[in-house]
Amino acid sequence: MSELTDEMKAKIREHFGHYPTKQAITLPALHMVQDAKRCVSNKAIEEIADMLELAPSQINDTLSFYGYFRTEDAPTGEKRVWICRSLPCMLRGGEELLAELCERWGIQPGQTTADGKVTLELAECLGACDGAPCMLLGDELSLRMTADSVEEHVKG
Ligand code: FES
Repeated sequence: MSELTDEMKAKIREHFGHYPTKQAITLPALHMVQDAKRCVSNKAIEEIADMLELAPSQINDTLSFYGYFRTEDAPTGEKRVWICRSLPCMLRGGEELLAELCERWGIQPGQTTADGKVTLELAECLGACDGAPCMLLGDELSLRMTADSVEEHVKG
């Protein structure tokens, strides 16, 4: 059975012609799989490689270079909370926010809660320093976060 759905394959094929080489589609393909399945399995790597006429090791090289992608032995939770750890956010409460979330959720950055609902991640500057401390949840950037407001966003 295929790891990539027909829809995923069609979306990858849509990129053909929009990029100078098939290899350039590696990142969009990895993002698509990560976002849909919360990890990129070895089988998905093989299937992407096949579509892009690359060796699986080439796909894996790209995957392992970026901390964003997860392998099947460590998928993300249902939601992925990125807390900014760059200096302005840390100076304006980000450090305490991070510590509070770790304590409430019983995890460290990079880990997922026991119920599989949330993965806590560290982000570099999210480009909204005047709203520090900042959080990214999915595509949504939120400012002036507290542990309570983070949890409200996660529940919502
Ligand atoms: Fe956190 Fe810039 S330092 S958004």
